[in-house]
Amino acid sequence: MKVEILILVENTTPIPDFQGEYGFAALVTVDGKSFLFDTGSKEALLNNALLAGVDLAQINDLVISHGHFDHTGAVMQFLQMGMNKRIYAHSNIFVPRYVSLGERQREIGVQFKEQEINSNGVELIFTDEFTEIYPEVFVTGEIPRTTDYEDVGGSFWMNTNDRLVADNIADDMSMVINHPEGLIVISGCAHAGIINTIEYARMKTGQAKVLAFIGGTHLIRASEERLAKTVAALREYDVQKIVICHCTGFKATVRLYNDLGSRVIKGETAMKFTF
Ligand SMILES: [Fe+2]
Ligand SMILES: [Fe+2]
Repeated sequence: MKVEILILVENTTPIPDFQGEYGFAALVTVDGKSFLFDTGSKEALLNNALLAGVDLAQINDLVISHGHFDHTGAVMQFLQMGMNKRIYAHSNIFVPRYVSLGERQREIGVQFKEQEINSNGVELIFTDEFTEIYPEVFVTGEIPRTTDYEDVGGSFWMNTNDRLVADNIADDMSMVINHPEGLIVISGCAHAGIINTIEYARMKTGQAKVLAFIGGTHLIRASEERLAKTVAALREYDVQKIVICHCTGFKATVRLYNDLGSRVIKGETAMKFTF
């Protein structure tokens, strides 16, 4: 099995002309079959794909990690490129969502309606459960929250029945590839918790080894206890490559690098990883 992961959108980039943009998107290719994982928040996806020589019109399958704007902002642009598009997502990605920033609440949900997708002739497949979408390629669906030290990573809210209630971001899902050398886990924000996500992937596939974790971790406001226990779990799983992106934050990035060494990489736009 040959797996290539190209980061198409991340907050920053080390390469001139590529665009850093708040959010995450990656091109995941497994034995020649390509998947787009998330889309970033605005137009960087199209710019960066063009620069990287990726023809988005040729990619049929989109996996949406969760219903936040910084992962779904270019979905409509992507759907307008080419035919026979297919989307894998949790069924509650369209719930109106907010984040509290001090006094202020900001709307952070998906910026399009489900009907707009349907009118484009796109197949929208709800994967609320762990689902194989291609041989040895899975989406987790809803991830059980089993650790006692992980949380969604911020003050998130959703509107249900005209009431604002705490949002546990049940739709948060990751992509999992069962590579012969171990699991490759790709996450958008990991609001379910990076360790909950890895643990669930191991449980569902029966593969104990973890080759790589790539994506957002939402450790940006993590407590000392959470950081210490996350590092301990990653060490125990002996994850070979940990590419932390997007919502990890400076402090958690430094902590993971200092504790786990060169297996930790700060993922940025245009970086490519091959397994
Ligand atoms: Fe995010
Ligand atoms: Fe998010």
